[in-house]
Amino acid sequence: MHVPMIMAGIAGVAAIMAGCSSTPTATTKVTYENTIRQLVDKRCAECHGNDAPSMPDFKKDEEGYKTKKLGPRMDTYENLMVMVNGSDTGAIMRRLDDGANTKDGKPGNMYQRLGKDDAERAANLALFKSWMGSWNLKRAKDITEEERKLVLAPRN
Ligand code: HEC
Repeated sequence: MHVPMIMAGIAGVAAIMAGCSSTPTATTKVTYENTIRQLVDKRCAECHGNDAPSMPDFKKDEEGYKTKKLGPRMDTYENLMVMVNGSDTGAIMRRLDDGANTKDGKPGNMYQRLGKDDAERAANLALFKSWMGSWNLKRAKDITEEERKLVLAPRN
């Protein structure tokens, strides 16, 4: 069970590295449809699925939802983008960062959810980063228009 997942992780990183070479190939582009949807489904949907609250509902009763182990739903592209580039800009980056970019140097509290072991977490974080194009942890009130434009997160 563990070994194929690690292999898949390594393959994912290899694909990203290939994407960084001087001859980019269209097939290596990470999109919501080809990668992130399945990743969220597998690693996050248990608590952020279609039975979880929308962001506005979540904000109305954060403590109540926390005790039920439910976070804001990210079951569709639009719902996920709320936490990438919407009302809660950068939340995905702040929560998934491994500590390399956080103010206190500690991983975000959803980092552990990225995988069962360090290899899987690192590989899945790399996929999220590749998808974003620009890994910016700033909040909506702090991010500039220029910085916002660099966050790509393509659907297709
Ligand atoms: C076992 C349940 C569980 C899993 C699995 C889980 N989360 Fe969460 N998540 C929560 C809960 C509960 C909250 C609300 C409490 C908090 O803010 O920490 C939350 C909050 C968040 C937030 C902050 C939302 C906001 O804007 O206030 C983000 C972003 C997030 N999770 C991302 C993820 C991602 C991405 C994954 C998958 C890699 C994931 N979570 C997996 C339970 C979970």
